[in-house]
Amino acid sequence: MTVRSSFVVVANRLPVDEVSTPEGRQWRRSPGGLVTALHPVLAEHQGTWVGWAGGTGAAPEPFDLEGIRLHPVPLSAEELERYYEGQSNATIWPLYHDAVETPAYKRRWREAYRLVNARFAEAAADVAAEGATVWVQDYQLQLVPAMLRELRPDLRIGFFLHIPFPPIELFMQMPFRTEILRGLLGADLVGFQQRLAAQNFVRLARHLLGLRYEGQMIQVDGRQVKAGAFPISIDTKEMERLAEDPAIQARAKQIREELGNPKTIILGVDRLDYTKGIELRLKAFRELLADGKLTVPDAVMVQVATPSRERVEHYQALRVKVEREVGRINGEFGRVGVPAVHYLHQSYSRSELAAMYVAADVMMVTPLRDGMNLVAKEYVASRADQGGALVLSEFAGAATELRQAFLCNPHDPDAVKDALLRAVHVEKPEARRRMRVMQRHLRSHDVGHWAKSFLSELGVPDTEAA
Ligand code: ADP
Ligand code: G6P
Repeated sequence: MTVRSSFVVVANRLPVDEVSTPEGRQWRRSPGGLVTALHPVLAEHQGTWVGWAGGTGAAPEPFDLEGIRLHPVPLSAEELERYYEGQSNATIWPLYHDAVETPAYKRRWREAYRLVNARFAEAAADVAAEGATVWVQDYQLQLVPAMLRELRPDLRIGFFLHIPFPPIELFMQMPFRTEILRGLLGADLVGFQQRLAAQNFVRLARHLLGLRYEGQMIQVDGRQVKAGAFPISIDTKEMERLAEDPAIQARAKQIREELGNPKTIILGVDRLDYTKGIELRLKAFRELLADGKLTVPDAVMVQVATPSRERVEHYQALRVKVEREVGRINGEFGRVGVPAVHYLHQSYSRSELAAMYVAADVMMVTPLRDGMNLVAKEYVASRADQGGALVLSEFAGAATELRQAFLCNPHDPDAVKDALLRAVHVEKPEARRRMRVMQRHLRSHDVGHWAKSFLSELGVPDTEAA
């Protein structure tokens, strides 16, 4: 029998990983901030999370894990290719990130996107109790709000977009633009990372559908749809706890030793994605070595590039470019046993990442465009010692909040080099002052605060988010 919930989250991925244990394969809650923030709300409301469990073919039966009901949605191999890799990650992802890579438009991808969105909407309609709140997440599921409203007009529906929402001129490229916009307008509240994105959205509603709006309230078919900015954040306390853990401190020290105790460790941690500006960061480092402004082994760079969307062409091309640049830098500036760049195309545990953050003197976060960038926030929160310096692109959502970072325009190589050098040479008291201000912000603006603000705006009473 289907369990009905008064609070339902719908996201492309379920917040679980399948792991093998001595007892066989089991599900484990994945460590993301989103699930941490929503866990209390889900647990309190006997909540259900609807999402894809990974893999293709038949989905596992719904199951309970740590007080949350998980409701898997299946994807066939063809849908994975067309809905996930195609429409979501080769059309919408690049288009919404300012078309930093050219979006591809294919009819069969669009059809698969529709079909899969309808499947998610039906699953949500099945598990939602009368009058329930359903919170739909991200660009993979933009048609779900309208589809769900059609099936279940009794529901309160929220939608949050984790990535940027483009200006009108870019959005207008998309062949099924009206359908996407109508899809989003099925929600009662549409949340964005940035105020400018919310503005793009309301203006688009007028431009494309001639809808009237006042402030951020749009009139649609006799209903009101509100748009707003709700910048997402991290579990700040958890990050601070991790960074203060003696075992992690010891591991950070060991990492420094393994790197040859250099004066300056420069760190990058990203999914291997062309929006993240990994190449331009490597190039800035190479030019500073060539100019003699930095030298190996006094300065070394560590670049963690998590494997991501590996069957999508742009991602394959990026990997080749990044690995070529790493090879070039090490060829020119490394010595036997002393590379200039340590490149790690791997996933890590939260604690190993925290140890890297603690070990790094300068963190480089240089996306060409990013909805938020949680890595920047994690780095700041992990520097309880108030050491370290953050170089941050103006084009990351995080730059709106982390004003005391060394901000730079990633499209200007000299600006990136300048910001990196300033971060390398900053005086300790000045670095501490900057960190303190940003840390204070992250303590009051953590992921729990984000969830609470969104849900209370949506009208969920007494939201007890973490
Ligand atoms: P995006 O959501 O585009 O990947 P964010 O910076 O907002 O970028 O979030 C990335 C998240 O993934 C962060 O919480 C970060 O700690 C985590 N992460 C990044 N690289 C790795 C890795 N190699 N191993 C484990 N977690 C990672
Ligand atoms: C970004 C997106 C998420 C996505 C994540 C990882 O954060 O906003 O929706 O889940 O990247 O990407 P993946 O394609 O592996 O789910």
